Amino acid sequence: MKLITVQDLSTLVKKHGFDNFLNDLIDYLKQDFVRWPEFDKSPRYAAHVPGGVLELMPTADKKYFAYKCVNGHPANPFEGKQTVVATGQLSEIKYGYPLLISEMTVLTGLRTAATSVMASSYLSREDSSVLALVGTGAQSEFQACALKLVRPIKTIRYFDTDALAMDKFEQNMKDKGFELVRCSNAKEACTGADIITVCTACKGHVVVIENDWVKPGMHVNGLGGDCPGKTELDKNILFRGKVVVEYTEQSMIEGDIQQLTPDEVGQVLHAELWEIINGSKKGRETADEVTVFDSVGFAVEDFSVLRLTYDLAEKYGIGHDVDMVPPIADPKNLISVLG
Ligand SMILES: NC(=O)c1ccc[n+]([C@@H]2O[C@H](COP(=O)([O-])OP(=O)(O)OC[C@H]3O[C@@H](n4cnc5c(N)ncnc54)[C@H](O)[C@@H]3O)[C@@H](O)[C@H]2O)c1
Repeated sequence: MKLITVQDLSTLVKKHGFDNFLNDLIDYLKQDFVRWPEFDKSPRYAAHVPGGVLELMPTADKKYFAYKCVNGHPANPFEGKQTVVATGQLSEIKYGYPLLISEMTVLTGLRTAATSVMASSYLSREDSSVLALVGTGAQSEFQACALKLVRPIKTIRYFDTDALAMDKFEQNMKDKGFELVRCSNAKEACTGADIITVCTACKGHVVVIENDWVKPGMHVNGLGGDCPGKTELDKNILFRGKVVVEYTEQSMIEGDIQQLTPDEVGQVLHAELWEIINGSKKGRETADEVTVFDSVGFAVEDFSVLRLTYDLAEKYGIGHDVDMVPPIADPKNLISVLG
């Protein structure tokens, strides 16, 4: 069984190339989203604790079972700790044996970016060149760099309530070929944008993006409304155009659509993302419609990134082969491993 540490993943992404990893991940996500009905699906298990949430995200197809264990603690950075950290496992269905245990904090950054970029490639205008990024924390650089792979983004207008997070973003992004426009509030960041990506962390119903900042033709990726009692969008935005989610049952509990009644969800919900990927529902149809990807993160996305990581770790011989299954010749002689 392979163990992938943070350092192993860093080696793997460097070896394969950051853009290549994201492009391959988008391919893997598409392969998995088009066969969505084949997956076992359920809303994730969530243990709500003071200050945050711990979640277990399992899914399976006929070949693999995968899960991620992830937290969300918005106040962690005040104590020098990360808001989101994760680990995960990929197992084979045939024997039920684990194949891979991996760090998934960085993989979450990559898969969340690849998923919102996949959604943006169907929902945003093809000529989108200005990104408004609200929230320049851990996810932000992944989001910005990934979007460039599918849209001709030239300018990033960004804002965070934490000036140091904006300094960090500038430092990380200064050589990536974007015009960087630091803004003094979220409204200024959204002015003139083609795509708004909002990834803030606050446990509360916060209006980070107001309805009248969203102009015809804009696409909104809402990432931080991903837990009961945690939303970022003015609910009126959800009545403006096509709203797309990953898995309705989970999104109604956790997404920005939790602000709506079930009847209102029926009224505004256009599609689950897989229905757009497989062509049964349409993405953007006109230049002036408003589109919203109300993302919460779903287990199939973690399945796809674990599958890619496993394939690349095998290809490059990266990771540690460790005994997480007792190495015994007689399968009934388990006691023998204890000497
Ligand atoms: N949808 C998904 O699949 C998915 C995946 C990963 C993370 N998330 C969510 O995305 C959000 C961001 O995650 P992260 O890892 O980047 O967290 P983070 O704590 O590193 O960054 C969040 C940033 O938001 C800023 N912020 C908070 N309130 C703000 C406001 N009103 N206006 C502007 N900035 C504000 C904070 O100062 C911080 O810099 C979290 O809510 C997390 O739960 C979603």
